[in-house]
Amino acid sequence: MTDQITIRRPDDWHVHLRDGDMLNAVVHHTACQFARAIVMPNLTPPVISVDAALAYRDRIVAALPAGTDFTPLMVCYLTDDADPMEIARGYAQGVFAACKLYPAHATTNSAHGVTDIRRLSSLLDTMQQIGMPLLIHGEVTDRDVDIFDREAVFIDRILTPLVRDYPALKIVLEHITTAEAVDFVEASGPLIGATITPQHVIINRNAIFDGGIRPHAYCLPVAKREQHRLAVRKAAVSGSPKFFLGTDSAPHAIGRKESACGCAGIFNAPFALESYLQVFEEEGALANFEGFASEHGPNFYGLRLNDGTVTLSREDVVVPDALTEGGISLVPFHAGETLRWRLVD
Ligand code: NCD
Ligand code: ZN
Repeated sequence: MTDQITIRRPDDWHVHLRDGDMLNAVVHHTACQFARAIVMPNLTPPVISVDAALAYRDRIVAALPAGTDFTPLMVCYLTDDADPMEIARGYAQGVFAACKLYPAHATTNSAHGVTDIRRLSSLLDTMQQIGMPLLIHGEVTDRDVDIFDREAVFIDRILTPLVRDYPALKIVLEHITTAEAVDFVEASGPLIGATITPQHVIINRNAIFDGGIRPHAYCLPVAKREQHRLAVRKAAVSGSPKFFLGTDSAPHAIGRKESACGCAGIFNAPFALESYLQVFEEEGALANFEGFASEHGPNFYGLRLNDGTVTLSREDVVVPDALTEGGISLVPFHAGETLRWRLVD
């Protein structure tokens, strides 16, 4: 039995680091696991300009513990008025790594999101020309579409025509949750990839209703039926370069989760690698872990692979019921459970 596993330093291709006190409370968890992270721009107000991204990047760096080697990769939040010139400038200057499409009102702080993707045609032309990735929260927002069907309907109604109309556009379908998403990504060309979270390969929708309503198992896209968890899990461990690590760690203070209208988001940053590694081990796919965590993402984005390594060792780790930092209490994914690996180095 393997008791230690060492891989090239990994990256997180989708994380919410927030701002202010919450940023200070959470950023070190991501920075001690990952070399780089694609930082989601859904702040209030959202990050829509080069200046705002630079200022946010500075705040992230200032919140890091001294001596931490961590690079935040910034993302431009798309609105109906997104400016192709500003975005192309940000990409050329190495400030923006990608653009993020939130359909308006799909999730937390997405009120400024895009109401109709067809309004963005000149931006999409530009992105296609310069090779800038489009990151997509792939859910329709129509209230008459069942919440468990919103990803599959998005693929049919929005993504399929988008890929047809912009065949040279690099697209990451973020945090996939369904067999339909896996099938779509697998059937597409090499410019279409997907991130996969720990929760969507570990829980199915029963976890949200396990003996009572479980707000800490609620995120968006919401976990689906078991058959979908199995399909996403198979894709994650498959070794396919189209699938890569993106935690979607999305912290909300405990009171915002345990509420009559609790926020969507699972805070998985503190034990993300441990959580994924357990899945790869259970699936007999340890040999594919490094590709998923450390290679497929940078290769898709066209960035260099990280130097250095991280090591996890086979040791039981009890995940605390809550973490309190700087006066903010957060419930981590796997709270109260025992994980079988520990990040040691
Ligand atoms: C995210 C958040 O809280 O910002 N929540 C979530 O459930 N994933 C938003 C998002 O990525 O959908
Ligand atoms: Zn997210």
